[in-house]
Amino acid sequence: MHRLEVKSENKKSEIVFGQYDIISQKVEIPDDAIFITDDNLAKIYGGFLNDKKLIVIEHGDKNKNLSTMDSIYEQLIGLRADRKSFIVGFGGGMVTDIAGFAASTFMRGIRFGFIPTSLLAMVDASIGGKNGVNYHRFKNMIGTFNQPEFVLIDSSFLKTLPDEEYFSGMGEALKHFLIDDKKQFYAFLEKPKAYLNKENVPDKFLFNQAKVKVDIVNRDVKESGERKKLNFGHTFGHAIEKLSGIKHGYSVSIGMVIAAKISYKLGLLSTNEVNDIIASLKSAGLPTETHISKDNIIDAMHKDKKRAGDKIDFIALESIGKAKIVPMKISGLEELFK
Ligand SMILES: NC(=O)c1ccc[n+]([C@@H]2O[C@H](COP(=O)([O-])OP(=O)(O)OC[C@H]3O[C@@H](n4cnc5c(N)ncnc54)[C@H](O)[C@@H]3O)[C@@H](O)[C@H]2O)c1
Repeated sequence: MHRLEVKSENKKSEIVFGQYDIISQKVEIPDDAIFITDDNLAKIYGGFLNDKKLIVIEHGDKNKNLSTMDSIYEQLIGLRADRKSFIVGFGGGMVTDIAGFAASTFMRGIRFGFIPTSLLAMVDASIGGKNGVNYHRFKNMIGTFNQPEFVLIDSSFLKTLPDEEYFSGMGEALKHFLIDDKKQFYAFLEKPKAYLNKENVPDKFLFNQAKVKVDIVNRDVKESGERKKLNFGHTFGHAIEKLSGIKHGYSVSIGMVIAAKISYKLGLLSTNEVNDIIASLKSAGLPTETHISKDNIIDAMHKDKKRAGDKIDFIALESIGKAKIVPMKISGLEELFK
């Protein structure tokens, strides 16, 4: 059984990989834990959730908001939750983000853990302790840093995940290898098919993926430095996502190609490396270009909440497997992009 640990201040968060029946014995899930899930998962996993105290929210990122939080608080009170209660977020990143936020704020914070069910949640969203909701048009504007006690990662939940969600998650997954694991990136490029069948995703792949995030988070729990590297591809990716409405991982894929080409212009990546990045994304069925005009992308980029004044911490690649934070003026980045 593989396991990882995120350490922060006085709390540790255990990430365990394997079959649910086995790994759930390794952590403490109280019998009366309150599960939070979305309506899609409640339907598919009705049997699994049958004997559990349950709060079901509507699926989709547009529902990751304060009005859903309001209904969660109301239901927690209805279920007579108190400071000793335990919340389990069972779902994709939308559910784990909101369940973590509910647990971190209800009665000033109660215990919680996650059972992620999407690829994105398994390798990214459920790990690292960032919980929160969107506020009007601002993504993840309201939230907390608070680690779940456990994250149980069972790849068999991926069998029911819609294909486009799986491939979208693959965008973030490849990002992890690009920023911090050259060996795994080339292992993927050599045999992509070994990772693309959601019926049979190797635990080792999920472990290697999660390990990149865990290692970075352990070095920078509150995102004051190195953790920003996880935003590779996101400056342009977010803008493309807003303008096109395509899935997050698909937009990040295009954003990573733009960031790779800018890294080349900055004298960091070689042409061969840029081509390898494009080839890997294509082999994962991800888009690498967009028809949206550069002016529109730049306009949308200006609205990015992570920007401080007219400067930006642009995440470039020094080489495959090695990200670099390059502080620059937005105007300079725009010139490079154009
Ligand atoms: N906290 C963080 O560090 C962090 C990092 C990255 C992303 N996120 C957040 O994660 C969210 C995106 O996560 P996501 O891509 O998992 O989206 P999601 O939670 O919205 O799930 C996508 C869809 O897949 C369905 N689904 C999930 N698992 C399923 C399964 N096993 N079988 C069938 N259907 C399933 C859901 O019902 C939903 O319709 C965003 O809100 C994003 O902001 C957070």
